[in-house]
Amino acid sequence: MIRISMSLYLVTGGAGFIGSHLVDALIEAGHEVRVIDNLSTGKRERVHAKAEFIQADFTQLDQIKSSFIGVDGVFHVGALPRIPFSIEHPIESAQANIFGTLCVLTAARDAKVKRVVYSASSSAYGAQEVLPLRPEMPANPLNPYALFKYVGEKIAEQFYRFYGLETVSLRYFNVYGPRMADEGAYVTVISIFKRQRKAGQPLTIHGDGEQTRDFTHVSDIVRANLLAMQSNRVGHGEVLNAGACEQHSVNEIASLIGGPTVHEDSRKGEARHTLADISLTKELLGWEPKIKFVDGLHQLLSDES
Ligand SMILES: NC(=O)c1ccc[n+]([C@@H]2O[C@H](COP(=O)([O-])OP(=O)(O)OC[C@H]3O[C@@H](n4cnc5c(N)ncnc54)[C@H](O)[C@@H]3O)[C@@H](O)[C@H]2O)c1
Repeated sequence: MIRISMSLYLVTGGAGFIGSHLVDALIEAGHEVRVIDNLSTGKRERVHAKAEFIQADFTQLDQIKSSFIGVDGVFHVGALPRIPFSIEHPIESAQANIFGTLCVLTAARDAKVKRVVYSASSSAYGAQEVLPLRPEMPANPLNPYALFKYVGEKIAEQFYRFYGLETVSLRYFNVYGPRMADEGAYVTVISIFKRQRKAGQPLTIHGDGEQTRDFTHVSDIVRANLLAMQSNRVGHGEVLNAGACEQHSVNEIASLIGGPTVHEDSRKGEARHTLADISLTKELLGWEPKIKFVDGLHQLLSDES
């Protein structure tokens, strides 16, 4: 367990997949936690009973600003994280992912919060010539969601430069684990395969299935967040990767899960490969992933069966 000195934390999106795990870890470490979530994709029952829950929309600055008073640190985890949704509804996606981030940072700045840790996305890299992906590579977002999450990082960086609000962005690589989304158009391939396996259906593979992802366990992502809040080596708008540093193809996952497969057209606007270089994260946070993908996947599948 990581001990951090500050005591009241605000988690946006704390009723969501990653946010709810983070809330649990903060409470377990003895902190007070306040959650802001509008339950658009989150679920009220996921929020730890000891957390204060505020059902509010973080794009409404007037509705949320009083909740930041007295807060030591903010984890801005909330977002509308769906690529197809962002292609179909770019205005709503930008509203939550850009304007919402601007509102959260403004509320944090005005309440003199010490630090904001922003949940960024590896999708900011998009198509790159070389792997592994390093934060100094130019961003190349391939879809509105990726672009808007990337803009969020830049806003966080500017809030440090212009207003002195400490910020750090963690670019998560495909996160998986208990409570991950299992419905909707943009769910991890693991969720889709799990659901299809349960329903006795063939596993749907988009394209040739040789596209790869760096799947990262949610417990590792939570630990990266705690360290990013605590480390005195960050807070100046840094962008850090949080990935497992393993590459697994969709075909490989399908064979690990087992059963017949069907092929469909490849999805538009998604990178062919992702793989994190975490040397800067290791250096500044002392973080590295602990859960190997085969173990995490095995655990996830056995929890469900
Ligand atoms: N899951 C991944 O693989 C992944 C990868 C990279 C980055 N991320 C980022 O991690 C964060 C969490 O993702 P997740 O997978 O847990 O998603 P999630 O959908 O489970 O959680 C997002 C939460 O934000 C809440 N929310 C959305 N808009 C809101 C608003 N306007 N006001 C208040 N609450 C709002 C939702 O209700 C939900 O509870 C997001 O910022 C996402 O972009 C996720």
